[in-house]
Amino acid sequence: MGVPGKDLVSLGPLSREDVEEILDLATEMKKIMQRPVKKVPVLRGKVIANLFFEPSTRTRTSFDLAAKYLGADTINFSASGSSISKGETLLDTVKNILAMGPDAIVMRHKSSGAPFFIAERVPVPVVNAGDGINEHPSQGLLNLFTIREYKGTLDGLKITIMGDISHSRVARSDILGLSKFDTEITLFGPRTVMFHDVSPYKVKIAKTLEEAVKDADALMMLRIQRERQAALLIPSIREYARFYGLSHRKLDMLKSDAIIMHPGPVNWEVELTQELVYGDRSVIFNQVTNGVAVRMAILYTLIGEGKYEEISSS
Ligand code: CP
Repeated sequence: MGVPGKDLVSLGPLSREDVEEILDLATEMKKIMQRPVKKVPVLRGKVIANLFFEPSTRTRTSFDLAAKYLGADTINFSASGSSISKGETLLDTVKNILAMGPDAIVMRHKSSGAPFFIAERVPVPVVNAGDGINEHPSQGLLNLFTIREYKGTLDGLKITIMGDISHSRVARSDILGLSKFDTEITLFGPRTVMFHDVSPYKVKIAKTLEEAVKDADALMMLRIQRERQAALLIPSIREYARFYGLSHRKLDMLKSDAIIMHPGPVNWEVELTQELVYGDRSVIFNQVTNGVAVRMAILYTLIGEGKYEEISSS
């Protein structure tokens, strides 16, 4: 499971108050990022090990930057070029990195559950940076932070999550995070990539694109995860773009103040056109900025050993 308070491997065990505390702290962290000198030494002397057994651009670099802004040192490990190719196991790899003395492990792995497995076997906090199709808690938190930043609240909102739902660890963390608030969650996507059973979640399923988007305050688009699909579950990309993607000519269906989100990387012209990615409804690059602030808040919460005020006055 991972231990609440020690690890962040799932948003499930967190309370609404836990989530709000991280989001409030991230607000302070974002102010630090806007200072001329973006550094507070609150994690000086600490070491964060970023262990990425799967590719990443945003998550890895933002955890690295978050640690550095807080004064920590980092070890950045990628599976490619490592001794994994010589047969070293996941646990042995982690135990060897652990022998170098990191204070926390940030970990991404293609196998669902891998960070849970490691969290049970190491004494330092483990942050799940994405495990297979299971969860991506820091992405879920930065998504909540971004919605709250634009809408002022997470309560009373209608949020639609669209695309390849069943293979999306982001969708799961979004749902677990948003469910702690008074938020109406709608899912929309091809049946072949929808959850077989939605009963564990308090969500609605939309039947048409118009139904999915017309009342939404935020649209959370998802990438088609072809690398995780055992069979080709989306027969035609052109059809997918037409029925499940967003383009400029569909904007009329949206509320005038609806924001468009995407965790990245975007399949251009599939789930979103390039025009929309760079358009004024898109908050995609703000999500990336917020990712640094939220990851600073996560690292500080897990190993900061200090108080909130310490940061504001640093
Ligand atoms: N959103 C996200 O996880 O992006 P990366 O795969 O680039 O880290």
